[in-house]
Amino acid sequence: MSKLLRAAVIGVGSMGRNHARVYAEMEDVQLIAVADVDQAAAVRVANIYGVRAYADYRMMLEAEPLDLVTIAVPTRLHREVAEEAAAHGVHLFVEKPLAGSVEDAQAIIDAARAAGVKLGVGHIERFNPAILQLKVELDAGRLGRMFQLHARRVGPFPPRVEDVGVVFDLATHELNIMEYLANARVVSLYAETEREIHEQHEDLLSGVIKFDNGVVGVLDINWLTPTKIRELSVIGERGMFRVNYLTQELYLHENSFFSENWESAVALMGVSEGRTIKYEIKRKEPLKAELESFVEAIRQDKPPAIGGEEGLRAVFLAQKLVESGLRHEVVHL
Ligand SMILES: NC(=O)c1ccc[n+]([C@@H]2O[C@H](COP(=O)([O-])OP(=O)(O)OC[C@H]3O[C@@H](n4cnc5c(N)ncnc54)[C@H](O)[C@@H]3O)[C@@H](O)[C@H]2O)c1
Repeated sequence: MSKLLRAAVIGVGSMGRNHARVYAEMEDVQLIAVADVDQAAAVRVANIYGVRAYADYRMMLEAEPLDLVTIAVPTRLHREVAEEAAAHGVHLFVEKPLAGSVEDAQAIIDAARAAGVKLGVGHIERFNPAILQLKVELDAGRLGRMFQLHARRVGPFPPRVEDVGVVFDLATHELNIMEYLANARVVSLYAETEREIHEQHEDLLSGVIKFDNGVVGVLDINWLTPTKIRELSVIGERGMFRVNYLTQELYLHENSFFSENWESAVALMGVSEGRTIKYEIKRKEPLKAELESFVEAIRQDKPPAIGGEEGLRAVFLAQKLVESGLRHEVVHL
């Protein structure tokens, strides 16, 4: 397939307009059109790239011969838009979270399967170069046995997010990343949630999760913090990795007590501060890497790097966290 792939974006708000920019920059993709119920927003973005603007995405799907579409409307609308686009035989790239419920996420997967189109899900942090390097280091055994993953994703409340709470909107990033890095599945979880500012949904989550390999995950996620922090740390026998998602920095704080020669059972004789290593990370815009990867999956007719099942899994775990928070109960999966 050497022809240009014809792309469109549905929903050109704060995320979708970046998809439009990246598609317009890609050499093997042609941005054809954008759609947004906010017609002024659609026209504004369309004019930047010299493409057509639609207020009704259905009209766009009827009129334009498309190969792929990004769906970046509010989360609760992902399902209806995805079903419609799939029915037009267009490959779907759906922003994360895949949907606002497990039922909707499954319906999107079913629609893509029935139409024979690819479904990619925008778990963008999986394309963060610092996370990719961390995954290489963990899989190479650089940390030894892993004990705990700790994610802090906090910042001010974005008033545009009306349809879901912070668990669906932000914790889905970390749930996906944690299962990926731990190489394990969540077996139980517990959440305390609070609603302080959001009219309907929780805006604070303190969560604890347990993986099937014994690793513990801690989630500190909220929309109540005046400054934006996106950090992950991973501790294990040999020390602690620390990622700053925003600056794409990766550090290893070594445990100087750890020695190669000790039996693993007695390896953790103590913990003391050793060297700090800052990895040299080649920065790349995660959205660009993500969309390039999706386009490659279409061209090579292979499964997208992050497909519907992973998107559904994050939504399922988010739903369980919300339930746990409402009931103040541990949920065993
Ligand atoms: N991957 C990430 O890190 C990331 C970051 C931000 C947002 N997102 C996701 O992207 C999606 C959009 O979020 P956002 O922050 O850009 O929201 P936003 O409110 O800024 O943009 C949504 C846009 O969709 C438009 N819209 C609403 N209903 C529509 C319809 N029926 N047809 C066409 N357009 C419609 C709105 O007018 C708006 O312009 C959400 O699912 C969100 O979770 C992902």
